[in-house]
Amino acid sequence: MQVFAEDGTRIHARVNERQHVNAVVLIHGFPFSESIWEAQADALARDACVVCPDLRGAGKSSESEGPYLMETLAADVALLLDALGIERASIAGHSMGGYVALAFARMFTERVARLALVPSRLRADTPKEAEARRELADRIEREESIEPVVESMLPRLFAPSTPAERPIVIERAYEIVRRNAPAGAAAALRGMALRSSAEDIAEDLDVPMVMIAGARDAALAQEEAREIVGRFPRGRLIVCEQSGHLPMMEEPELVTQALHEWLSE
Ligand code: MLT
Repeated sequence: MQVFAEDGTRIHARVNERQHVNAVVLIHGFPFSESIWEAQADALARDACVVCPDLRGAGKSSESEGPYLMETLAADVALLLDALGIERASIAGHSMGGYVALAFARMFTERVARLALVPSRLRADTPKEAEARRELADRIEREESIEPVVESMLPRLFAPSTPAERPIVIERAYEIVRRNAPAGAAAALRGMALRSSAEDIAEDLDVPMVMIAGARDAALAQEEAREIVGRFPRGRLIVCEQSGHLPMMEEPELVTQALHEWLSE
């Protein structure tokens, strides 16, 4: 399906099994698209209406002028839910998708039935991290290419065992990223650099919360994952032992199972 935001941006989403009453939204991270959730979208559709948006500037959604604030991306998700007649949903986000899920939770608290971070973090960027994002965005725009993102980010995203044990995952991840337009990636990077911390809202989100983290994730240490979960009144941590930053692709069955359990909480 697709909807159009007020500024004319086309927001695309894959929607599986519209007839179910329970809805789950799976929001992809950067620099990906909804395709990362292929395995979960199909499996969860047996019990829920599964909505996988392409955030603006990614996948089949169109680009708009950046930066893409997390609040703008969250409003796009709300627009999709409105169009589907879904008032309340379980919201899962991968990394940048987690920042969007948290912005959604701040803006539309009553619409969040459950929260999953697969994985993601609460804090904002340090000034150094924000600067590195802006430099990468500048480079993408200068070179008019997504390759600077591919080079600087993708090799760090997988568990050391994934290339040998699941080469197809690596191939698929690169393919998904390379389909994205450079301008959308730059705008998302600038938006992430501007995001505020979500540490203040965790204790008020009294809904079933799960963090599904990779034991070999170079982007999120286990201690930080544990600390984040501890801030939520009903937080749980599930560790995928053979995953880096993309557990939904590196250990798809485990993530599906964890999401199933979370949806029945
Ligand atoms: C992501 O996977 O969405 C990014 O790693 C998020 C980030 O860079 O903070």
